Amino acid sequence: MAPTSLPKLAGRVPQRWRRRVPMRLRNALVARFGHPGDEPFDPAAHPARLNLGCGYDKRAGYLNVDLHGFHGPDLVGDVRSLPALPSGRYTEIVAQDVLEHLERADGPVALAEWRRLAAPGARLRLRVPDLPSLLRWLREKDDPDHHRRVLHHMFGTQAYNGDFHLSGYTELLLCDELFRADFGDVEMGLHDEWLWDVEATAGGSPLGLVWGPGFHAAEVGGGPRWAAESAELCLCLGGERREEIALTLSLSRHADADTTLQLTGGGLEQRIELTEQPTEHSLQLALQPGVTRLSLTTEGRPADDGRRLAFRAGGEAAIAALA
Ligand SMILES: C[S@@+](CC[C@H](N)C(=O)[O-])C[C@H]1O[C@@H](n2cnc3c(N)ncnc32)[C@H](O)[C@@H]1O
Repeated sequence: MAPTSLPKLAGRVPQRWRRRVPMRLRNALVARFGHPGDEPFDPAAHPARLNLGCGYDKRAGYLNVDLHGFHGPDLVGDVRSLPALPSGRYTEIVAQDVLEHLERADGPVALAEWRRLAAPGARLRLRVPDLPSLLRWLREKDDPDHHRRVLHHMFGTQAYNGDFHLSGYTELLLCDELFRADFGDVEMGLHDEWLWDVEATAGGSPLGLVWGPGFHAAEVGGGPRWAAESAELCLCLGGERREEIALTLSLSRHADADTTLQLTGGGLEQRIELTEQPTEHSLQLALQPGVTRLSLTTEGRPADDGRRLAFRAGGEAAIAALA
């Protein structure tokens, strides 16, 4: 049967060819003539939470979106442009192991699209490989199989189109791209020591609290992070102005450790006596835009538990003027 409209005609063009049409032109065509999907899609019939690039990780309570129908998503679509979805509807947007699958220039395009979809104050949750951690891991062993394993994580499984890693990120780049897309109040920490777990808020202030190498997320129930003898905490500030930052840390030591903490960087140099019970420490810093690295190093005896855990840390950061 001959197609009766431009969307139907477009629906017959394989998606990999449709994706070659520049994003702006595609959006303009969809706005003018409708989406080239085979069936009308009703966003109101689905949850107001998104799981973008869902792959086989389809989540109940989310609208699961993927480029490929073989994953069985609720919506087949390209996360860089989702004109079938309304602006400002989604209270939570998950994109786990997705950003690195987009070409370098498309990261900001996708983040801008996810910001369009976000409801006021919506939470964005990303997981993205950390290139410096992968390189540190690579250097741990001069063994070809070890290098192969790490490079697999660096460049992706490469099983099909959309499964290749086409871009790389660091904590500074992630924060910068998020701030440019008007996400803020970022908090991120390393998962399995090489993946950033990132949380950001739509419209939040351009500040990131980054629990860097040395910190391990609590396995059960979340909460403060554990560290061995030393760990790095970074603050990423967006914009172009120097800002006063209020950093509140909740610190404690392992029950079997006997440690004191030395905190240096960002103009701070402090020695903190740790106790078993968490105590709050309020710190003021004047930050330049970009990244400020704080080094937290213990002196004394860590817990002799195989992982030599020394202290726990949790906390938050805020731009003082805006707090
Ligand atoms: C590594 S998998 C992650 C799957 C899932 N989020 C998880 O954490 O298990 C990456 C997924 O992103 C999808 N993907 C890649 N590029 C995409 C795009 N432009 N639009 C939508 N999905 C995309 C791939 O099809 C794949 O399912």
